[in-house]
Amino acid sequence: MAAATASATLFSPFLPSPGFHESCRSLNWRTHKKQIASKAGTVKVTAKFELNPPPYPMNALEPHMSRTTFEYHWGKHHRAYVDNLNKQIVGTELDELTLEDIILVTYNQGNLLPPFNNAAQAWNHQFFWESMKPGGGGQPSGELLKLINRDFGSFEAFVKEFKAAAATQFGSGWAWLAYKANRLDVGNASNPHPSDEDKKLVIVKTPNAINPLVWDYSPLLTIDVWEHAYYLDFRNRRPDYISIFMEKLVSWEAVSSRLEAAQAQAAEREKEEERKKREEEEEYQDGNEVREMYVETTDSEAD
Ligand SMILES: [Fe+2]
Repeated sequence: MAAATASATLFSPFLPSPGFHESCRSLNWRTHKKQIASKAGTVKVTAKFELNPPPYPMNALEPHMSRTTFEYHWGKHHRAYVDNLNKQIVGTELDELTLEDIILVTYNQGNLLPPFNNAAQAWNHQFFWESMKPGGGGQPSGELLKLINRDFGSFEAFVKEFKAAAATQFGSGWAWLAYKANRLDVGNASNPHPSDEDKKLVIVKTPNAINPLVWDYSPLLTIDVWEHAYYLDFRNRRPDYISIFMEKLVSWEAVSSRLEAAQAQAAEREKEEERKKREEEEEYQDGNEVREMYVETTDSEAD
């Protein structure tokens, strides 16, 4: 594993540049250190992502989301993404990265590398379970409601737009509420096109496994609109599933705490950017002073 870490400083297509981890959010994914005895008798340590259970019992969201749906969705689909990811990354340079880093690296500016779908789906599903709670729904409050009113006009207008995004995502995918606070150039992204407007709430829909982390947005809320998420309970009635999700399942407390974390991270980044800018300006000034001293010496000698 030490060798894999050292290779990060070389030119690996898999691994992020220095400082990359600082830009990534954490979902508190834990890697489980597993010791494997090799044929030679030496012990190799490798990282392994674990399938975390939902933060409530499997039947806790009934009657809005059935235990049967959970048993398939979490127990089969989510499990398969985690298991397949572990198989794909074991022994590779990705083995030591956080799940978020694996997603960003394998997104590869839209040219997806093989582990991307399993990594992103593993992340998306945990985020989805944590976006819901028993007795959810209702309305948000505080800063979150203030920003929703500012950026969408009203809570009702936000709900309408979010439902429309989820209902119109063609085929499999996700709808998201995200906090956008970046000014990055993501020219290779086709959905959505980032604008110059910073620090606002946005609704985006994404195909397959893609999530807003790949555009450096902070996801706040998601709904899974793959058919496996609702077919057992709602058959093909996706709009009914979306309405129940918004009215009975959303955990606005989770969304609010994610917003708080995203804003704190954005503020921290700004401070760091300002610090780096100051350092660069000071270095530039120091360089000028050295040049001026050299010029003065040369003039003096010429006289
Ligand atoms: Fe799913």
